[in-house]
Amino acid sequence: MAAKPVAKQAKRLVVLVSGSGTNLQALLDEIAATGTEAYGAEVVAVGADREGIEGLARAERVGIPTFVCRVKDHGTREEWDTALAEAVSAHEPDLVVSAGFMKIVGKEFLARFGGRFVNTHPALLPSFPGAHGVRDALAYGARVTGCTVHFVDDGVDTGPIIAQGVVEVRDEDDESALHERIKEVERRLLVDVVGRLARNGYRIEGRKVVIQ
Ligand code: GAR
Repeated sequence: MAAKPVAKQAKRLVVLVSGSGTNLQALLDEIAATGTEAYGAEVVAVGADREGIEGLARAERVGIPTFVCRVKDHGTREEWDTALAEAVSAHEPDLVVSAGFMKIVGKEFLARFGGRFVNTHPALLPSFPGAHGVRDALAYGARVTGCTVHFVDDGVDTGPIIAQGVVEVRDEDDESALHERIKEVERRLLVDVVGRLARNGYRIEGRKVVIQ
């Protein structure tokens, strides 16, 4: 599929999803409301590791190209990783955003997109990394948790932190209620961070991210 042309100044975003895609929707809504040039970026493609999810449907409804790269369609995890990297590369992104993408990428993907691959995680890293950040914070008895937007490195949720948002845990919370409140904060944070990275540029100094 041909790469979609965008306005000259805007950075090209490829967003990866695995589920409902409300963080993706927040990006799409903000870009639609603000305008591509003022926001500084446009979503040029949305990729997923599975079919039939609302995250892909959200992109399809507004005519954004989508692709699916499933682990089970590849002989090895490394082959999947290379195929994912190829699929993303085809859209020539400046930034890749993992917005609820529930897969750990490998060496080839990081070789191509390291330093420009952003993830959002539903906990205050380095606490509660992994696939169950909300459940783990609740089970631990944390009184505050939140979300972290960070660059991806070769660990699990260990890369340099860009921004965090704090959410109080309530006595009556279950995983779903707490996750919903985290996601309200997370969507605003992700929209703000991606826009600032795209508009201002940034550098990564060790563990520190400096947005210019
Ligand atoms: C978000 O809360 C995101 O932080 C989380 O999945 C949710 C996706 O929501 N990601 C992880 O847990 C990754 N470890 P969405 O599909 O509605 O944007």
